[in-house]
Amino acid sequence: MANVVVVGLLWGDEAKGKVVDFLAEDADYVVRYNGGNNAGHTVVVDDQVYKFHTVPVGVLHPKVTAVVADGVVLDPQIFTGELNALKERGITPDRIKISGNAHVLLPYHRLIDSLEENSKGENKIGTTGRGIGPCYADKMSRTGIRMCEFVDPVRFRERLFSCIERKNAIITNIYGGEAIDAESVYEEYKVYAEQIRPYVTDTTKLLYEASKECAGIVFEGAHASLLDIDHGTYPFVTSSHCVAGGACIGTGVGPTMIDRVIGVVKAYATRVGEGPFPTELLDETGETIRRAGNEYGTTTGRPRRCGWFDSVAIKYTSAVNGASCVALTLLDVLDGMDTVKICTHYEIDGKKVRDFPTDVSVLAKATPVYEEMPGWKRDISEVKLFSDLPVEARNYLARLSELIETPICIVGVGKRRDQTIVLDSEMLEM
Ligand code: GDP
Ligand code: IMO
Ligand code: MG
Repeated sequence: MANVVVVGLLWGDEAKGKVVDFLAEDADYVVRYNGGNNAGHTVVVDDQVYKFHTVPVGVLHPKVTAVVADGVVLDPQIFTGELNALKERGITPDRIKISGNAHVLLPYHRLIDSLEENSKGENKIGTTGRGIGPCYADKMSRTGIRMCEFVDPVRFRERLFSCIERKNAIITNIYGGEAIDAESVYEEYKVYAEQIRPYVTDTTKLLYEASKECAGIVFEGAHASLLDIDHGTYPFVTSSHCVAGGACIGTGVGPTMIDRVIGVVKAYATRVGEGPFPTELLDETGETIRRAGNEYGTTTGRPRRCGWFDSVAIKYTSAVNGASCVALTLLDVLDGMDTVKICTHYEIDGKKVRDFPTDVSVLAKATPVYEEMPGWKRDISEVKLFSDLPVEARNYLARLSELIETPICIVGVGKRRDQTIVLDSEMLEM
């Protein structure tokens, strides 16, 4: 069976959750490799809506083992809340495995996230406020607390008290904030540790053995390529390795074990938070897309910024991920448009540019140049076959695929699992 990475190609919320759920039907493992509960992945099964933040969406499939791997930062309060909510809906979490190497997100990370954001004024990033940056900063400066320590009460207490002492110095002296009481954090979090302990294991070994036994593994990317700490629109990024390569870094699975990469992207563009967004529509058309696509954040409820499909950005992200094919989602959202536009290139300082600039000071100067195509003006949400899509929609897809130099393997025409058109079934084989 295959090892397949599912990765977002823009700034997040491309419907990775739906695509992972679609593949998970035939998989043995679904693995989250990066980020934390700043992610919000939605899966709709019949009339049931599930929103996942840290738990891999594969947990909805009875035979799938859902792995939270080394590269994830896990907020125990949120995670146990997610587990309890799933249990209430009849989903047993006993097939969840958490890496002992994953870092623990604690209340001081959340507090420092908001203090840092507030202190930046106009330069703020627009984070989700979940403490992600400060938690990864501790990991990189080798002062973080890992799951293996968290579930050992003696080690956790010792590490927590020493961390809080140092964090309180920053919180009070630099930001003038209120110190955190280590004892009360310990009392609250030791209860979460009790609940989480049975899930913590050596996931690297688990996945290595699974690969040797030819299990089918789906790697569930969180956030997206332009939010990647190295390859995104820095500093308006998140703090983890979101690109497909992150699947190896964040799990311990070697690059030679990855068979395919499926890049997920909407038929238009969205972004949450600050930072340049060349094809953003600040007019009535942007509002129409937001309404039709219900473009409000799964995690924070913030209205998402909307715009036209940006082939310059997607050609770049398809390349940095080595995308084998693209899952093109939310095509139905454009059903009502008279015409649809694709950004074919940028103009920067009077020059035609087809290579995406990751220096945001250059990107901020980019003027998008569009190609306009006729819309299809028809409800496509129940179309099951590519050949049954209106010719205008097929032409739109063909042109996108040509511009991003990547074939399309799936088209999404609605939220539900069954509102998925398969163009290349070989690409989806597990
Ligand atoms: P993720 O973070 O990439 O998993 O994406 P989100 O779940 O945050 O956002 C995608 C949204 O689009 C969710 O509300 C999905 O239910 C919805 N969705 C997914 N695929 C489609 C589609 O093909 N058409 C429509 N209209 N909605 C979709
Ligand atoms: P999914 O997995 C959309 C954005 C935030 C902010 C920036 C940094 O659902 O696609 P952070 O809290 O990570 O430090 O915020 O990254 N961001 C996302 N935007 N979808 C996401 O996840 C996101 N995760 C982070 O809005 O601009
Ligand atoms: Mg999301």
